[in-house]
Amino acid sequence: MKVSIFGLGYVGAVSLACLSRDGHQVIGVDIDASKLELIQSGRTPVVEEGMVELMQSVAASGRVSVTTDTERAVLDSEISLVCVGTPSAANGSQDQGAVLRLAEAMGRALARKTEPHVVVFRSTLVPGTVEDVLRPIIEKHSGKKDGVDFHLCFQPEFLREGSSIRDYDKPPFTVVGANHPQAAERLRALFGHLPCKFIETSVRSAEMMKYCCNNFHALKITFANETARLCGALGVDAFEVMDLVCQDTQLNISRAYLKPGFAFGGSCLPKDLRATSYLAKTRDVELPMLSSILASNQAHLQQALDKVLASGCKRVGFIGLSFKTGTDDLRESPLVMLAEQLIGKGIQLAVYDPEVHLAQLLGANKRYVDQHLPHIGQLVRADIASVIADSELVVVGLSGAAIEVALVQHLRPDHQVLDLVRLSARDQIAAKVQGLCW
Ligand SMILES: NC(=O)c1ccc[n+]([C@@H]2O[C@H](COP(=O)([O-])OP(=O)(O)OC[C@H]3O[C@@H](n4cnc5c(N)ncnc54)[C@H](O)[C@@H]3O)[C@@H](O)[C@H]2O)c1
Repeated sequence: MKVSIFGLGYVGAVSLACLSRDGHQVIGVDIDASKLELIQSGRTPVVEEGMVELMQSVAASGRVSVTTDTERAVLDSEISLVCVGTPSAANGSQDQGAVLRLAEAMGRALARKTEPHVVVFRSTLVPGTVEDVLRPIIEKHSGKKDGVDFHLCFQPEFLREGSSIRDYDKPPFTVVGANHPQAAERLRALFGHLPCKFIETSVRSAEMMKYCCNNFHALKITFANETARLCGALGVDAFEVMDLVCQDTQLNISRAYLKPGFAFGGSCLPKDLRATSYLAKTRDVELPMLSSILASNQAHLQQALDKVLASGCKRVGFIGLSFKTGTDDLRESPLVMLAEQLIGKGIQLAVYDPEVHLAQLLGANKRYVDQHLPHIGQLVRADIASVIADSELVVVGLSGAAIEVALVQHLRPDHQVLDLVRLSARDQIAAKVQGLCW
């Protein structure tokens, strides 16, 4: 394929070398003439393992050319990969200057092109940039339409500096955000041979998932480092501890707990986080990330409270009260906290939870609920239909097939639903359903 690559930094230079190695005809474009000279003479503009030898061999192959002329590069290629830098501005926002200027130049080039062209943004871009910012610029300057005359895609890059050729050849996966199958097919022709999944998604999801990946990496590093600081202060071997933590591939290094939902609660996580923060305080250890988890959890609870209050409904039904499906444990249940706050605001509540049998609540569980919902006996009902019938808004905090069947059966069009569990029967429910943040 004939490929043009814009921006020959780490991402662009490695892509240029690997794509030309794989037999493609590659045109490298950069505003920095010194990088172009290096590439032209078979040298590498970035220090990366394997790049010196690879650049020598691809330069000798005759499949690499360089230019500063955007228009020429677009006209002489069928697909463009945009790899320009997107650094931080002084206020922390993304400095999109380079990609904005390039979009204009690209639009002008596309105006002169008669054949179809695919533009793939590989620079990390804040979600919405391709469709809301770059597309209008390119359409304006080309006088043409995305999805008709050309195709814009977003394909996040996952290579790591230091091992970028190896990462190029063995990425965790290829994710392509494309609005048109034709564009995705072009990218499959370039990257489909790689030994990983090739996943097609929307442009926005692809933009967002790149941020999620990097944020998750930063979070993991910080988790290990905060753990190490506390371990150090306690005389515990942090390497041994983290190695043990990583050996649990069921709950720790797994998909567990990585699905959006309602706030966490229960008898373990909140109290153990509190104890960890307190312990750190007593040893003069700073754990900013671990210490702010409960505040983030509280913000999630607040979001649910705000949504119920914003509805203006005065009679609210709760489906579920315990801290998660399948238990009667009410200790630090976010649903109990939500109920407590709503009662404080004068909302009339009715609750259905098939797991919670008041007469059987014992010990700490009973003490907790007596303290937070002293009149729980007047709220809880044995019949889901009566809770729904007496409510204007139903908060669904419990999942399960039987619950969904009952919701489909009993909810009316004038009901409102706040869905905290991502109901699978949402489309069959007659009421107006809103998710917590989905
Ligand atoms: N470095 C990484 O490991 C890595 C990994 C994944 C994703 N990314 C993302 O990829 C993008 C590029 O990162 P990088 O580290 O390769 O950047 P870089 O700063 O090393 O290189 C960017 C290049 O773009 C060039 N450029 C600027 N404006 C241009 C224009 N109008 N036309 C042509 N070239 C132009 C610059 O001269 C420079 O050579 C960023 O958005 C980054 O967040 C980087």
